[in-house]
Amino acid sequence: MAGFRPPNSNLEHYKQGSLLRTIAVLNQKGGVGKTTTVVNTAAALAMLGQKVVAVDLDPQAHLTIHLGVDPKQSGPGVYEVLTKSANLAESLVEVRPNLWLLGGNIDLVGAESELVSVVGREIILREALETVEDSYDYIMIDCPPSLGLLTLNALTAAKEAFIPVQPHFLALQGFGTLLQTITLVTRRINPALKVTGILLCMYDKRVILSSEVKADIEQFLAKARETDCPWSGARIIPVHVRRNIKLAEAPSYGKTIFEYEPKCNGAEDYRTVAEYIHSQTGAESERQAEPVVIGEDESVGDVVEKA
Ligand SMILES: Nc1ncnc2c1ncn2[C@@H]1O[C@H](COP(=O)(O)OP(=O)(O)OP(=O)(O)O)[C@@H](O)[C@H]1O
Ligand SMILES: [Mg+2]
Repeated sequence: MAGFRPPNSNLEHYKQGSLLRTIAVLNQKGGVGKTTTVVNTAAALAMLGQKVVAVDLDPQAHLTIHLGVDPKQSGPGVYEVLTKSANLAESLVEVRPNLWLLGGNIDLVGAESELVSVVGREIILREALETVEDSYDYIMIDCPPSLGLLTLNALTAAKEAFIPVQPHFLALQGFGTLLQTITLVTRRINPALKVTGILLCMYDKRVILSSEVKADIEQFLAKARETDCPWSGARIIPVHVRRNIKLAEAPSYGKTIFEYEPKCNGAEDYRTVAEYIHSQTGAESERQAEPVVIGEDESVGDVVEKA
């Protein structure tokens, strides 16, 4: 595994004994790489021997389809857990070695209105996931492109939020609303929630705009560093997922990138993202985290070599 060390210690909850990492992958902007990130990072973590649950909170059910499961025939999933008190452990389907899916389907569109009069409707997913938390190492939640009740359930259940960003024109439009929502959730429902990673997806370093957007985000995060806001410890994950056509092709075959084209750039990038994420867990649990600031322009190779 690559020798990454975490750039900071923003993972306080590991010090409280629990090694489970529950990560909501969200951005209300559509098509930025949320689902691609959850599928391939979850698959890579599973290949590292971690027990991983992938949760499809999106009525589009792209995560479910991408993992090769037919949403119409997948049995109970997120919808049934949220609205019919289905048992979470019994709703998980083992889709690959070490990788379980809590499937989504189009019925989720109605969940929001069905739950409108239910007391505590934003904590249903958290309570359900708590019933299995001793059995898994990672739970990754793929959120829909909105900030409604489904995303709220994810933010309430998660300890961490990852925000994939596609560095293009208006990439940061809506960022303020997203962070405001996260702030409200931390104040009112889930004080443990932190934004831990911003992942640049579909990155093309030849395009000036990509580095401009990256610089804007870095500046924004730097300003937050001395504050106590939920993203004060957030970093741009030092692996940028390059634009790679194989990543766009893999979903229609119901395959992860490692099954579809294991040697392509997309597979290399997501493998390295997973190694980075997992190195944070290892470092935190071993209490060995010395702050290491990874330089802005270093490539993945540089970082691995230095660590
Ligand atoms: N690095 C990449 N290179 C090329 N294509 C990509 C890459 N990442 C994702 N894609 C493609 O871009 C499209 C959007 O990606 P994805 O579905 O992961 O985004 P999303 O944020 O989950 O979208 P939505 O908001 O609709 O849920 C998909 O067709 C996907 O296959
Ligand atoms: Mg998606």
